[in-house]
Amino acid sequence: MKRLAIFASGSGSNAEVICEYFAQRSDIEVSLIFTNNPMAGVIKRACRLQIPVVFFDQKTFYHTGKIQQILQNEGIDLVVLAGFMLLVPPSLVKAYPNKMVNIHPALLPKFGGKGMYGQFVHEAVINAKELQSGITIHFVNEHYDEGNIIFQATCDIQPTDTVGDLEKKIHALEHAHYPRVIEEILNKQ
Ligand code: GRF
Repeated sequence: MKRLAIFASGSGSNAEVICEYFAQRSDIEVSLIFTNNPMAGVIKRACRLQIPVVFFDQKTFYHTGKIQQILQNEGIDLVVLAGFMLLVPPSLVKAYPNKMVNIHPALLPKFGGKGMYGQFVHEAVINAKELQSGITIHFVNEHYDEGNIIFQATCDIQPTDTVGDLEKKIHALEHAHYPRVIEEILNKQ
């Protein structure tokens, strides 16, 4: 059995589709969902899906080895970031070389880096009058949005598209591809 842990700080729609994708499988499971945000929508979703949630604060994340210890005790094979807002500390990145992935709601290397998350990304893309945006799934390193790219998918932007319109298109791409790409990564391990 391959075991996944998902880290999410927000609504958790990606976390949910990943959990559902693997729900009936006997070879891959989502074992744990981690969150640093006690108000995150992902907590409700995890309860509904009956996946245990680990809540942690920043002090624990950055100044103790507790999170790494839980991941190791649980035998986690792949760490999946899905709307996770904190920069992963170098020690944790090192513990999961090519075993930690993130999804970014734009076509990296453009529109990435610190402060580029959620609506800010879509706003920047629309303000730059880009004709296309998309998603990037990449390995995680010590810097925001800079690890090796694994997969990208694109969507067209219409001149009339609002930030909300683009956000919907991007979420649809994320939900269609992230679970499948995770499966491919696990199969190659
Ligand atoms: C997604 O757009 C993801 O690319 C970004 O944060 C958003 C999370 O959405 N990193 P959700 O919480 O999974 O709905």
